Amino acid sequence: MIGSFEFVLPTRVVFGSGVCKNLADELTGLGKKHPLIITDKGLIEAGVVEKVVKGLKEAGMIFDIFDEIEPNPRDFTVHKGYEVALTKGSDSLVAIGGGSSMDTAKAIGVLLTHGGSIRDYEGLGKVEKPICDLVAIPTTVGTGSEVTFWSVITDTERHFKMSIGSPLIAAKVALVDPDLVESLPPSIVASTGMDALTHAVEGYTCTLAEPITDACGIYAIRMIAENIRKAVQENDKEAKTNLLLGSLIAGICFGNSDIAGVHCMGEALGGLYDTPHGVAMAALLPHVMEYNYVSDYGKFAEMARALGEDIEGLTEESAAYASVLAVKKLSRDLKIPTLVEVGVKAEDLPELAKRSAVNVSVDSNPVPVTEKDFLEIFKKAYYN
Ligand SMILES: [Fe+2]
Repeated sequence: MIGSFEFVLPTRVVFGSGVCKNLADELTGLGKKHPLIITDKGLIEAGVVEKVVKGLKEAGMIFDIFDEIEPNPRDFTVHKGYEVALTKGSDSLVAIGGGSSMDTAKAIGVLLTHGGSIRDYEGLGKVEKPICDLVAIPTTVGTGSEVTFWSVITDTERHFKMSIGSPLIAAKVALVDPDLVESLPPSIVASTGMDALTHAVEGYTCTLAEPITDACGIYAIRMIAENIRKAVQENDKEAKTNLLLGSLIAGICFGNSDIAGVHCMGEALGGLYDTPHGVAMAALLPHVMEYNYVSDYGKFAEMARALGEDIEGLTEESAAYASVLAVKKLSRDLKIPTLVEVGVKAEDLPELAKRSAVNVSVDSNPVPVTEKDFLEIFKKAYYN
């Protein structure tokens, strides 16, 4: 029987080739005249930021750029961006980039409306007022941050990735433009695409899943699985476009349900080692699925089918396990680096397990999971 649930999507989504050119009109429509662009130097060098701000220049709009966003963004970067926004008199924020830029922009928005330290807002529901208007423009195919209510920021004192969650920090508008991911390198398509797949798998199977997130989750899994190999191996434009849409729908899924064990572990890795988020997800996803598949054979079998597996004639358990095998094969095919290859040290596994067990989403994992369990999963991912 279906219980009660709530579904919210405060972000207006505009998807399509060339929609990033609408930025000036979107800001004007919101009554904004002086945005701060939050991005990274790589996207400036690659000419991606210019593609977006060209329209602002043509419209004669004043804007400033804060381009100091790094992977696994730090607390001090948030505070620096906040100071820039105050100094420049910015009335709105525009994030151009992957999850790092969008998450940092949300956090800067929190400080602009609340003040204090970003650490004050760690957890769910600590933000009391809507942040200033934010337009999110994704340039990778994986984060979904353009439609989620989460900002993940590294606390540099604790070497810990804090999660700040509230619908009040969501972007006002998401401009999702496939033209911006056209030149994304295959290794980034692979890792961010696997992050998107992880969002869909965790959003679909976690304890907070409900019918609408189920619908989005299974649709996103199918869409990502059907396109990720072609996007990575053939650099196919249509496949990348579909992957960008899959990532968006996966974001809508997990934003309303939750993430689970893979992110608990991956955020511990990112906090301690600065491991790229998508690489951590891809390395851990099949192992966490192997731990979780017993929770719901029906859902895991449905995922196996969406991942392209033929499950006809298999027992319920084997059909469910086929989803685990499908993701293991996908990680191999995409040549995702292993935990050893990204420099994780065996002696740190207990510390990583300890940090995973205090993640805000631990209780959302479909099978109860303790520090000891996390350690066993880390060992499987590390030594296999
Ligand atoms: Fe993620």
